[in-house]
This record gives sequence, structure tokens and C-alpha cells, in this order.
Amino acid sequence: MTPFFNMSDSPRKTVLTCAQPTGNLHLGNYFGAVRNWTSYLDDHECFFGIVDQHAITTPYVPAELRQSVYRTLALYISCGLDPSRCHLFLQSQITGHTELAWILGCLCPLGQLERMTQFKEKSQREDVGFVGAGLLFYPVLMAADILLYNADVVPVGEDQKQHLELCRDLAIKFNATYSNTFRVPDVAIPKAGARIRSLQSPDKKMSKSDPNQSGCVYLLDPPEVIRKKIMSAVTDSSREIRASAEKPGITNLLNILSASTGQTVEALEAAHDGLAYGEFKAVVADAVIACLAPIQARFAEIGEDRSYLDNVLKEGSEVAQKRAYRLLSKVYRKAGFIERSR
Ligand code: AMP
Ligand code: TRP
Repeated sequence: MTPFFNMSDSPRKTVLTCAQPTGNLHLGNYFGAVRNWTSYLDDHECFFGIVDQHAITTPYVPAELRQSVYRTLALYISCGLDPSRCHLFLQSQITGHTELAWILGCLCPLGQLERMTQFKEKSQREDVGFVGAGLLFYPVLMAADILLYNADVVPVGEDQKQHLELCRDLAIKFNATYSNTFRVPDVAIPKAGARIRSLQSPDKKMSKSDPNQSGCVYLLDPPEVIRKKIMSAVTDSSREIRASAEKPGITNLLNILSASTGQTVEALEAAHDGLAYGEFKAVVADAVIACLAPIQARFAEIGEDRSYLDNVLKEGSEVAQKRAYRLLSKVYRKAGFIERSR
């Protein structure tokens, strides 16, 4: 019997997400973000962006930024974002992100930007020195990153939820003000590993800006460094291996072990019942080292191969740019701009 319609002809949904070029991803970035992105490769059209224009909203050194972009790209690929199955692009190489941000910015209530948690945190930090308008505008540029590709789904960590809400608001507002143009994207927040905490201050998230660097495990840390950091993780004075609000350190280690091995926290609690904290930490260290080994091996192959990395960006931006132009010209028409004659 001939099928009524062929499912394989149905266009795949678009997934898009981006991250700043930190050049040094940590376990939180991997378990909370990058690893989950790989799960979309099979059945979605995937755009993964490195947002260097976002990176200049706080003080930075240009030569270091360039270096960080290459390292971040090589890390993405090493983490499983295979360039033959997704579009890896660099924000500044695509015409359209800042252009669309301007138009969305004209629709965005100033108060909503001033209320953004990340803006409040970053602008009040003592080391920031000067607060540029770019920092306030950051979420509008982020909305443009997403809407420019008409993304269906945007996987991000919990901390980006508020920015995604603004993006959805702006899409709805543009559609209502002009006419239906943007898909209102869904946000996808991973359950497991959504928040990996600092090994030294388990009340805070693991972050590269943690003043105590031994609280943060980087994907490229050598095995002995990983072991040292995990063995010195802050725990509590009891000796029970159980996840609970009163035991943030052990809970964090259980979450990390769960993310590294794919086993549930409950199963791990049962399996390690009665172990001393030191012994348990050694188990966690072994699991993290094993989980990161293939990533480190792949990075050793491609991390310094600039021509390969440039080529990945070239191929990714060709596809991204085509799609971005299509949407931007539609938006420009609706906004009342006169088409360029070229
Ligand atoms: P950032 O390092 O803050 O630029 O974040 C890059 C991505 O990693 C975002 O999707 C974050 O939500 C996610 N992320 C950052 N830190 C953590 C963490 N400690 N636990 C889980 N996800 C995180
Ligand atoms: N603000 C995000 C972060 O710090 C990075 C980002 C910029 C982003 N543009 C995006 C994430 C578009 C998802 C989609 O993690």
C-alpha cells in the first residue's frame, strides 16, 4: 500500500544553540550543555554558534579572543559535535546577528533588560570596572542569534531561561507588530546535570570565574589534576553517601558520577552505601577521567590544526549565512526598509 505521505520527506526541526568562546570548557558546560547538544544530531538540523560578539560585552584581549574561538571550536568537535552532521559557525562571520538585534532592540522594553538577572550580576561585579551598553543589550543579541535561524528548539542551561523568555517575547511582539515572521522557539533544559556545582563551594555553580580554581574541572585538565581536584572536594562531616539538600557536596559528586556513567543517582547511592568519602571520591575521579579521555584524545589530534578548523568554520558559515540572509531580508521588508540594489 502506498503511504499517504512519506515521513522522510518531512523537514527536520531546527535546533540552535550557542556559547561564548571561553576556550576552556568545564564539566558544567559539558554535562549541562554540549553533551546534550549531540543528542540532536540524528534527527534535527543543528546550528551551533560560537558567539564572539557576546564575548566583547565585558573587558577582553583581542588576541586571546581569537585563540579562544579556535580552542572552543576544537573542543566542540572533540565533544562530539561532528561538523559533517551539524553547522558550526562563528557569530561575527555571519551578517545578520547584529542587524536583527537592532530591530529587535527597538521593540524591547528597556526595563525588561534592566531586570535581567545576568545583567544585574555582571554589572554589579566589582572587577567589571565599566558597564558598557553592550552588556545591557546582550539578551537582545542573543534573541537575534536564535530568531535569525527560525529555530524550533534551543537547548540551554537553567541560567539562560530568562534570556529565552525575552527571546520568545520579542518574537511574539515582532509577529504582532509587523506580521507573522518568527517561530516562537521552545527552550530545552536538560534534567540530569542541569547544574553542576563548584567542588569547593557546592552552593555555587561550577564556573570558570570561581575564585577557587580547584572547584572547577576543565575538560582538558590532565588526569592527575582532575583526581586532585575531586579528592579535595568539600563534603560534610557525616559519612553517608546520599543526595539531599543538607549535603550539597556529596549531592554534587553523585550528580557528577551519574552524568559520567549514565547511572541514576539512586542506583549510585545504593552501590556506594557504606564507602568512606575518600573512597567514594576516588570512584568519582576514575569515572570523570574515563569519561573525558576520548575528548582529550580527539583534541590532541585537531586542537592545533588551524587549516582544518578554518575549513569547518567556512563550511558552517556558508549554510548559516544563506539561512540568515533569507530571514533578514524578510525582516527588512517588513520593517519598511528599501531593498539593497546589489
Ligand atoms: P557559560 O560557561 O556560562 O558561558 O555557559 C555555557 C553553557 O553551559 C550554558 O548553556 C550554561 O547554562 C551551561 N553551564 C555553565 N555552567 C554550568 C554548570 N555549572 N552546570 C550546568 N550547566 C552549566
Ligand atoms: N548567553 C548564552 C550563555 O551565556 C550564550 C548564547 C548567546 C546563546 N546566544 C545564544 C545560547 C543563542 C543559546 C542561543 O550561555
